[in-house]
Order: sequence, then C-alpha cells, then structure tokens
Amino acid sequence: MSADQQKPSGTVSGTVIAPRDAERKGNGGDRRVIGPGLAPLTMTVNGRAVAVHVDPGTTLVEVLRDTLQLTGTKIGCDRGACSACTVWLDDQPVASCMTLAFDARDRRVTTIEGLADGDTLHPVQQAFIDHDAMQCGFCTPGMVMSCAALVDRQPECTLDDVKAAVSGHLCRCGTYPNVFAATLAAARAVGTQRSPASTGPAIGGGA
Ligand code: FES
Ligand code: FES
Repeated sequence: MSADQQKPSGTVSGTVIAPRDAERKGNGGDRRVIGPGLAPLTMTVNGRAVAVHVDPGTTLVEVLRDTLQLTGTKIGCDRGACSACTVWLDDQPVASCMTLAFDARDRRVTTIEGLADGDTLHPVQQAFIDHDAMQCGFCTPGMVMSCAALVDRQPECTLDDVKAAVSGHLCRCGTYPNVFAATLAAARAVGTQRSPASTGPAIGGGA
C-alpha cells in the first residue's frame, strides 16, 4: 500500500475532521506559513464575524471556549475519541479538539449556542428535552450538533442513520435509546414541516 493510500480518510469515530486548510477546495492550495507567535484569524461564529489573534497550534475548541467564552462545547478526551467537542464547520460536524483554529479561517462555525433560532430551539434540542435524552448532559451538546446536522440534511433518516451519526459519541450515562427516539421524532417533525402538503394551499378547507 502506498503512503498516499495510508493517509487518514478525514473521518474519526463518525465525525468529519476538517481538511487541512491548504487542501480545501477553493483556496488555491494556500500554503502560507502562519506564525510562529500569535497570528490574526477571522471566521464567522454563530453568524457573527470574529477576529482574534491566536497561536497557530491552537485548536478550534480552545478558541471557542477560552477566547470566545462559548463554553457550551465540551472537552472530553481532547484527542478525537469521544465527540463531546462536536461543532459544525460549514454545516459539517467536526471534532473541534482535532481541528486547528486556522482550519476554520474565513469559514462558518456553529456551536450549540448558535443552534436555536432566537427563542425557538432547534427541533433536535426540543426533542432531546421532550424525550429526556440526557442525564449529566456532558455529551449532550456534541450529540445534539451531530443529530441536528443529520436531521437538517436528511429528515427521512432511519434509526440506522441516527446510530451512525452518533457512533463516535461516548455517553457514559447511556442515553442512547432516548437520543435515538428524540432524533427520529425531530426528523419526523422537520420532514412534516418541509412536505409540500404542510405548506401548500388547503384543499377542501370548508367555509
Ligand atoms: S474532546 Fe474532542 S473528541 Fe473528545
Ligand atoms: S448524558 Fe452523561 S455522558 Fe451523556
């Protein structure tokens, strides 16, 4: 097997890891050296433009929690094994402890704090409450981010799809059955909202 074939696929424990910035499509293979020392970084976090100075070796979760005080994102293992730190990078769930902050440069980051629409919870957040899908709650922000990405992308998802989506998430409290039920309920709700019948004109609605 060649060295290229042995390269990691970019997916760890069910979570997509951000591709290296230089390999991203669209940036022309930018290979500028950043650092040493603090370097300027811009990104959009929960819809707001953010400009910070960070060491190039800083992970995304460190910037989110320590610099931006967005402590809803949790650190469990800090080595890509538990998915507690899952956030969205351009709508893709990533393990933010395995993502350099500079991998998020000029990209959109969504954390659990940015998932609700104002006072309206994301359907998955509401379903987690309705189905009692948490105990200590430590894994919950990451679980919600992965399940919400699935539901938004694929409201017709099956139980197997939900299991695959949370396959990298370690929950010591064993909330998986309720997480499955909550996510499927949220998916059904989103699917109903998106169905033409729910938005089209009423037929035979009566006087
Ligand atoms: S804290 Fe990132 S995967 Fe465990
Ligand atoms: S709810 Fe406690 S670790 Fe998952």
